[in-house]
Amino acid sequence: MYTQLEQRGMPQPPVNVSTLRRMKDEKRPIACLTAYDASYAVLVDAAGTDVVLVGDSLGMVIQGHDTTVPVTVDDIVYHARAVARGLQRPFLVADMPFMSYTTPEQALENSVRLMQEGGAMMVKLEGGEGQVDIVSHLSRHDIPVCAHLGLKPQSVHKVGGFRVQGRESGKAREMIDAAQRLQDAGADIVLLECVPNELGEAITRALEVPVIGIGAGPEVDGQILVLYDILDITQGRTPRFVRNFQSGHTAPVDAIRAYVEAVRDRSYPAPEHCFS
Ligand code: KIV
Repeated sequence: MYTQLEQRGMPQPPVNVSTLRRMKDEKRPIACLTAYDASYAVLVDAAGTDVVLVGDSLGMVIQGHDTTVPVTVDDIVYHARAVARGLQRPFLVADMPFMSYTTPEQALENSVRLMQEGGAMMVKLEGGEGQVDIVSHLSRHDIPVCAHLGLKPQSVHKVGGFRVQGRESGKAREMIDAAQRLQDAGADIVLLECVPNELGEAITRALEVPVIGIGAGPEVDGQILVLYDILDITQGRTPRFVRNFQSGHTAPVDAIRAYVEAVRDRSYPAPEHCFS
């Protein structure tokens, strides 16, 4: 009945929130990637990835939009369900799309869909101080939450572009306080996108929960990238933090394995992938 208990003795038991906390405490970097379908999910799992995110980046890399704004809850449910079928060991996180968590009640209703219909084990939402009540409501209902801070792609039209966040000391202080409040409200992971190394390190030190970075420097507890970026499928200009791991490999699974190893041995991110 308790499949998780039975699997505990396996050489590679499934990752859960306790595994991730332990990895932070033991300073073992957490390797995370996005995935959007079952075939790639199998490869990402085989390569040893710890956390898989069905990100709303699918709006750009799968659906061809310019931003993540058009993505719906139905879209995430559809892709999460496919990814879940391909995974055994990794911890599956699904994104709450734009405007799907404007009230605690709406957030709870949509989180339940991502978990029950999509098979997600955690939901991720973009938020700061304004989302503390929502995280607290979800947490009170035992919904695991990842809070996404820094560059928040769903706010692109309000912010006026994709740019590094938290460079000014006042903004950096605000982000550290927001991260702390989100953790206190029950967030189980904080994800930081596009912030200076120093801020990534400060938030990682301040929090007990794991901090996963994308363009947040080498001192965070784990790294995440968009799968199609590391496989060199994405065409045109890519963000500074992207590294092409397909180069030098023929099979995609070898490229993904190279990414996981680079995160584990901390050779990724290198200084050229970071912001100051
Ligand atoms: O949607 C996504 O893929 C994300 C990652 C970039 C972290 O949020």
